[in-house]
Amino acid sequence: MTNKTQSKIGILASGRGSNLQAIIDAVERGDVDAEISVILSNKENAQALERGKKHNIECAFVDPKASPDKESFDREMSRRLKEKQVDLVCLAGYMRILGAEFIETFQGRILNIHPSLLPDFPGLFPQQQALDAGVKVSGCTVHFVELAVDAGPIVLQSAVPVKDSDGVDELAQRILEQEHIIYPRAIQLFLENRLTVSGGRVLIKDD
Ligand code: GRF
Repeated sequence: MTNKTQSKIGILASGRGSNLQAIIDAVERGDVDAEISVILSNKENAQALERGKKHNIECAFVDPKASPDKESFDREMSRRLKEKQVDLVCLAGYMRILGAEFIETFQGRILNIHPSLLPDFPGLFPQQQALDAGVKVSGCTVHFVELAVDAGPIVLQSAVPVKDSDGVDELAQRILEQEHIIYPRAIQLFLENRLTVSGGRVLIKDD
C-alpha cells in the first residue's frame, strides 16, 4: 500500500469528445493512473459532456456569455479547475484560445492534442492543410500548451501515411485512431513525472 494520493485531471472540451472518451477508457483500464475530476465545456450541447456524465464524472457547461470578456471567462474556468485541485489540464478538442493568465496559472501542466505533425499545419483544418500541401505523411502531436496557438514543447507524435485516395474524412479518421493512443500515453508519462522540458524539447525519462 502506498499513501500517494490519486492525481487529478481536469479536461476542457468543446465538441464530440472522442479524445475525452479515450482518456476515460484509459483511466478505467488503469492505463492512466488518475481520476478525471471535472470536465468543462464552453458549449452547452457538447457531446463530450454527455460522455462524461455516462461515466459519472462531474461535468459542467460554462457559458461564455455569462462572462463580460475572454479573460473573465478563462478566470472562471481556472477557478473551477483550482477548486478541484487538478494536477493536469487536458485540452481535448477545446476550441478556444487560452489567455496568458490561464496559461501562467497552470504553467507546464496543460496538454493539448493537435491532428498534424506540429510545427506543420497549426490552427484550423490541419487535415485539409496537409492534403493541400501534398505531404505523404501526416499525424498527430501531443504538446505542452504555450501562448502561441498549437505551439509548445512536443511530448509525443504519431505519423500516418497520406494516401492518394484520401479526402479530409479518411485522413482525419486515420489520424484520430493515433490520437486516441498517444494522448493517454502522454498523460501517463506526465503523471509518472517522466517529462522534462529542456531547451524547448521534452525529454522522456527511461524511454
Ligand atoms: C481532434 O482532432 C483533436 O486533435 C483536435 O480537435 C479534435 C477533437 O476531436 N484538437 P474530439 O472532440 O476529441 O473527438
